[in-house]
Amino acid sequence: MPVPDVDRYRPEDRRAVDALYRRVFGHDAAEASRLRWEWQYRRNPNNPGGEPEIWVAREGPAIVGQYATMPVRLYVKGREVMGSWGMDVMVAPERQRRGLGEVLFRTWDRNVGASLGLGLSDASYRLFRKLRWPDVGPVPCLVKPLTRRAFRHPRLPVAINRIISALTWPIVLFLARMRPLGAEVRMMQRFDDSFTALWERLAPRFDLAVGRDAAYLNWKFVGAPHVRYLIAALIRDGQTAGYAVYRHLHEPRGRVTLLVDFLVDPDDHDGFLTLLRWVDREARQEDSDKIRAFAMHAGFRRLMRRSGYFQVKSTMEFVVKVNGTNVPPEFYEHTDTWHVTLGDSDQDR
Ligand SMILES: CC(C)(COP(=O)(O)OP(=O)(O)OC[C@H]1O[C@@H](n2cnc3c(N)ncnc32)[C@H](O)[C@@H]1OP(=O)(O)O)[C@@H](O)C(=O)NCCC(=O)NCCS
Repeated sequence: MPVPDVDRYRPEDRRAVDALYRRVFGHDAAEASRLRWEWQYRRNPNNPGGEPEIWVAREGPAIVGQYATMPVRLYVKGREVMGSWGMDVMVAPERQRRGLGEVLFRTWDRNVGASLGLGLSDASYRLFRKLRWPDVGPVPCLVKPLTRRAFRHPRLPVAINRIISALTWPIVLFLARMRPLGAEVRMMQRFDDSFTALWERLAPRFDLAVGRDAAYLNWKFVGAPHVRYLIAALIRDGQTAGYAVYRHLHEPRGRVTLLVDFLVDPDDHDGFLTLLRWVDREARQEDSDKIRAFAMHAGFRRLMRRSGYFQVKSTMEFVVKVNGTNVPPEFYEHTDTWHVTLGDSDQDR
């Protein structure tokens, strides 16, 4: 069998890639991806040369695999490297388990300053591990219950769920009590240049984080075609001091507010608690049963626990390999000051 060539995606590949996507991931996922595609791959402000960062495996005229990625400016111990999130990776079903996935992973990795993966399928997680990508996940998940329904469990009988609700009611009342806001919070439609300045000020505070300048934030959280986000800015003495991005949704088990992304100085405890209280109020107004967030940074998690969040089991696996700057092996063991959220990669979709 001929060895497939792996090279960059060209506009005329689109139909063949769409067809392969449908075969590997199914019709619904393919439809959802089609709706996001232009935004996700073409409009990313960090695309090198303005082109989508996608590799395809060709066998003659046929396309038998792809690795589609999301380039980001990654900050690693104060240095900027061009990283990219690996996301839509696939190999034609009849070609799987013959080494083609490995060729795609390695081609991507050779071409980027850091290769990152978040929320992986079982197959790709195993392949990352087989190829010895540093495994630093999962990114912790935190939940704050707001109503008794937050404790419902789908596999338990109704009567038991009622007893759990009754027993947990005092806890819910205690956690959900209103607290005053410590600074001004303002809803916004877009991120202005003051957020780029905020990011530049805060970047050195994180050992690893995706760059959150205004161009990235507007693309990611204002321009996304598949979901609508709410954005709250923290203002102190007339200056931008932080933000929270969130949305409300219905899940089979109840209403949830997702705290998708946020940024504030990790030492600005009042600032972060104020943003959390703002999201509490918004969630309560929408009648949400709980708030869910993902956060890697230990300082942020500590404040979230103080604010009534519980850490629960997370399935958001995280792997990262830094190539563009020298990091010692221990770098991957100390992740307490890394800032990674649900807003990273294409996890919220
Ligand atoms: C993930 C994927 C791209 C890997 O491509 P591939 O050509 O099969 O990968 P390779 O042959 O280079 O590597 C095989 C290794 O990948 C992992 N792997 C691949 N498919 C797997 C599966 N179905 N179950 C468990 N592990 C799997 C294993 O580590 C395997 O090693 P092994 O064969 O020694 O056990 C391919 O399996 C695929 O398209 N899967 C479906 C789509 C998908 O899950 N995409 C990831 C989205 S995050």
